[in-house]
Amino acid sequence: MKVEGVTDAYVLPRDEGELQRLNLQYAYLKRLVTDGRVIYDKGVDITSEFRLLDSATGTGAWALDAAEQLPTSVEIHAADLSSNNFPPSPPSNVHFSLASVTNLPQDWTESFDFVNQRLLFGALLRKQWTEALSEIYRVLKPGGAVQFVEIDLYHPVPESPTVMHYCRVHEETFKKAGLFCDVGRNLHDLLLGYGFIGVKSEARHNPMGKMWGEIGMQGAKAFGGALRKAWSIFVKEGAVKTKEEYDKLMDRVEQEWDEQGTQYHCMIVTARKPFV
Ligand SMILES: C[S@@+](CC[C@H](N)C(=O)[O-])C[C@H]1O[C@@H](n2cnc3c(N)ncnc32)[C@H](O)[C@@H]1O
Repeated sequence: MKVEGVTDAYVLPRDEGELQRLNLQYAYLKRLVTDGRVIYDKGVDITSEFRLLDSATGTGAWALDAAEQLPTSVEIHAADLSSNNFPPSPPSNVHFSLASVTNLPQDWTESFDFVNQRLLFGALLRKQWTEALSEIYRVLKPGGAVQFVEIDLYHPVPESPTVMHYCRVHEETFKKAGLFCDVGRNLHDLLLGYGFIGVKSEARHNPMGKMWGEIGMQGAKAFGGALRKAWSIFVKEGAVKTKEEYDKLMDRVEQEWDEQGTQYHCMIVTARKPFV
């Protein structure tokens, strides 16, 4: 099932294979970006009455992990535009809903202590980010906290030739499609503009490829998998003529990851809604 009447700009499928990939990616990012924590900011005071929202939850990986780590009295909501990847029988304190982050339920106003949102750089148009940030601000209680995780594909280290070529093709294609693909680096200023306070933005390294051993191979499987599955937007926007051409480019990108030990940055951005 899916929310009707909302522009769905998401570049990836929502099938069983994608469910596996998202869960693998969750484990990878938890280890490398949030240092093993579901709530990165150690200053967030989690009470037994806490209400959390996982916005654009996908498979619910974060919400289910939060349910395992936090007391059962904590109420966890998880919303997505599509219910395709929702788990069949979540714990009783985890509530899944169909909702667009651009138009969250009216009765959620000022009802959450914490909102988590990850990896929408390939899902929301620029205008939709404006709506999403204002909706997240609305549903947070005064004093509530937020965390965003967004990968930055455009500043890899080292800047090897095929990887840089792919970066340019990726950025041009996603921008042509109207996606806010470099949102990660812009979130700090955007959040300040919405009235959030205490905004902190950190860039964490995400290693890709065999040179990094098991963690690099996990990264390549998670992110390489996503980039490969996004092939149709590259054909649609004219970057390549066919899927085969795109696959060949991705073969060369992944080979370079293995040989060069490419690292991308992943942005973790945290902030608070002021009390007044
Ligand atoms: C890359 S997945 C990330 C899922 C999850 N946040 C994670 O980190 O595993 C992007 C998710 O955003 C959802 N999505 C796309 N547009 C959305 C919208 N307007 N409102 C809510 N969810 C949306 C997709 O259905 C998909 O589940």
